Amino acid sequence: MNKKLFAALFFTSFLSADATTGKEVFETYCWGCHHQTSEAFGPPFTQIANKRTFEEIQAYIIDPESMYKSFGYKRTVMTKLKLTDKEREKIANYVLSYKGK
Ligand code: HEC
Repeated sequence: MNKKLFAALFFTSFLSADATTGKEVFETYCWGCHHQTSEAFGPPFTQIANKRTFEEIQAYIIDPESMYKSFGYKRTVMTKLKLTDKEREKIANYVLSYKGK
């Protein structure tokens, strides 16, 4: 196989296996309600990142209904979002990247 073709194939498979980034998940699913550093409908990622762990963030995304009380909210209006495990891990890391910002 010629080297260029091999490189092209390698790159396309690499990209398609990992096409979505945390930022894209954010823009697709969260942006309407959360902003990175400013208060929107929901709290900013800077605030979340400073008080929650990787696991807690994912747990909240999976089921806000069962989590909101332990997170100190009186009620929840956050939509239950259907993300893949990978998308959820990426968005959790993306939220955490705002820690201390
Ligand atoms: C419909 C609006 C809406 C969408 C969409 C939404 N959220 Fe929320 N989120 C909220 C609101 C409002 C709260 C505050 C508590 C509540 O109502 O559940 C919240 C709370 C949270 C919390 C807990 C905050 C804390 O105190 O630590 C996390 C984590 C979170 N959202 C992450 C996300 C992520 C990540 C996405 C996208 C994948 C997302 N949310 C999409 C509205 C939304």
